[in-house]
Amino acid sequence: MKKVSLFLALSLALFANNAVHEFAPSKECASCHPKIYEEYYGSMHANSTPDKDVIHKAVWDKHPHNTKLEQYSCGKCHSPAANDLDKMLTKGEKALPDVKNETHQEAVSCAYCHRIESIEKHEQSNTNIISKDKKSYYGSTRSSLESPYHKIITKENEHFANGNVCIGCHSHNVNKSGLNLCSTNVNDQMSGANCVSCHMPKVEGSFSSIIETKQHAFHGFAGAHYNSDMLSKYVNISVLRNIDNFIVNVDNQSSHALLLHPMRMAVLKINVQRGKEKIELEKEVFVRVIGKDGKPAMPWAADTTLKNSMIQANEKREVKRDFRLEKGDKVNVVLGWFLVNPKALESLGLENEKVAKEFHVFKKQSFSF
Ligand code: HEC
Ligand code: HEC
Ligand code: HEC
Ligand code: HEC
Ligand code: HEC
Repeated sequence: MKKVSLFLALSLALFANNAVHEFAPSKECASCHPKIYEEYYGSMHANSTPDKDVIHKAVWDKHPHNTKLEQYSCGKCHSPAANDLDKMLTKGEKALPDVKNETHQEAVSCAYCHRIESIEKHEQSNTNIISKDKKSYYGSTRSSLESPYHKIITKENEHFANGNVCIGCHSHNVNKSGLNLCSTNVNDQMSGANCVSCHMPKVEGSFSSIIETKQHAFHGFAGAHYNSDMLSKYVNISVLRNIDNFIVNVDNQSSHALLLHPMRMAVLKINVQRGKEKIELEKEVFVRVIGKDGKPAMPWAADTTLKNSMIQANEKREVKRDFRLEKGDKVNVVLGWFLVNPKALESLGLENEKVAKEFHVFKKQSFSF
């Protein structure tokens, strides 16, 4: 009897992450990797839990896994270092996010990410396989010197340099109706760019306080919430003047759609400065609206994409305005986004949350004619 239940427990655990649920707390890394820790601490990976991310909380609050099952299935990606992750992912069990449980608050922790050994592909969402050795960390850069705190296994794991380390959580998330809620095209073979090279660029400052290096990989994870300025070079904007109209070209050079989460709404604002007069032209909106029965619906209920005007991977989108430009005119364009589509704010109870309702400016440019 005992044997059978042990076997069952083990096979269920495999579903989560290899039955490995003990991770060194991220603050233990701070003394020797202070810059990396500081960057990381302000990133969405350190703040992906319901207590720290109001947008995530708003959706979780309404989710049937919360209201009916009391099971935080989101933990697979949002709090993978949780000591009760298996319960969160095992049918029939109950396990809710807990502010007082420190392992929940570790979110996507340093040690969790640096122990990703390989990635198992699955239809609904991938699974990270975590190494059993608590204090051996994978990396990409060096293995010449020993750290006094941990071992480093750099050479055996190519996932850190090629970006695969990210796709366990980011590649896709398919709901019960088979709708992919969030799809990130996997790495761009053509340009050689990958998740890591774009989102963790090399920045100034040593990666540890023990061994001096000029640079380290940025751990603030540039994205839609924070540090998006580090990514603006991957989206080029230009304006082409014709006789009776002009075209704003938005050239997305990243290997995935401009924004990925279906809650987002990107906007291109255009105006023309003519002498002292400022002429506002129609805005262009880029969204992916998911829904059911022809109406927008929450991620767990949606079974189809109703509309997709989001700028896709490596797409150059032409936005035409029937406006005749004159000599001396200046065209001002602003590309940015709302993290939560303003139409969904109220139904999620986010109408008073600055982070959800403010407009994030991504790129601002002027063109003189
Ligand atoms: C397979 C991994 C995975 C699972 C499971 C998952 N998420 Fe996420 N979630 C992500 C990733 C990756 C992002 C970041 C996507 C982005 O920024 O485009 C994200 C972002 C979000 C956001 C946007 C947060 C913000 O601050 O803008 C919300 C809301 C969200 N998830 C809700 C949930 C809820 C609720 C659950 C559980 C019912 C869940 N997710 C389960 C991977 C996952
Ligand atoms: C007592 C100091 C100390 C502590 C604490 C420490 N490290 Fe390190 N770490 C180092 C040193 C020194 C190196 C450089 C070793 C080398 O050059 O090979 C290093 C290198 C690394 C690397 C580099 C791998 C690569 O690409 O070469 C990773 C990843 C890493 N540490 C992760 C962590 C994590 C995660 C924690 C916390 C759980 C942590 N470290 C805590 C001293 C420390
Ligand atoms: C254990 C799962 C997991 C892994 C592995 C992971 N992420 Fe994430 N990532 C998330 C979740 C969950 C979020 C959303 C957090 C939220 O908004 O609450 C996120 C958010 C992000 C964001 C959005 C940040 C912002 O400011 O909006 C970026 C960019 C990102 N991840 C890049 C990466 C990269 C690059 C890697 C690989 C080095 C990676 N992630 C690995 C789970 C993961
Ligand atoms: C060529 C550069 C490039 C590559 C390669 C790339 N990205 Fe991005 N990523 C961008 C740009 C540009 C944006 C949009 C600006 C922003 O969100 O700050 C973005 C946005 C994101 C966001 C935020 C989207 C949202 O809706 O919140 C996530 C998450 C993300 N990328 C993850 C990844 C992952 C995971 C990979 C690898 C599979 C990857 N990116 C590969 C450039 C890149
Ligand atoms: C989402 C996954 C993820 C998280 C979380 C994460 N790292 Fe990393 N880390 C990486 C990847 C990927 C690289 C390789 C970067 C490269 O090759 O450019 C890396 C590189 C490093 C390096 C080598 C530095 C360098 O310049 O190449 C150190 C040291 C390190 N991480 C420590 C940490 C510490 C400490 C934390 C927490 C404070 C942390 N990491 C959190 C993914 C992560």
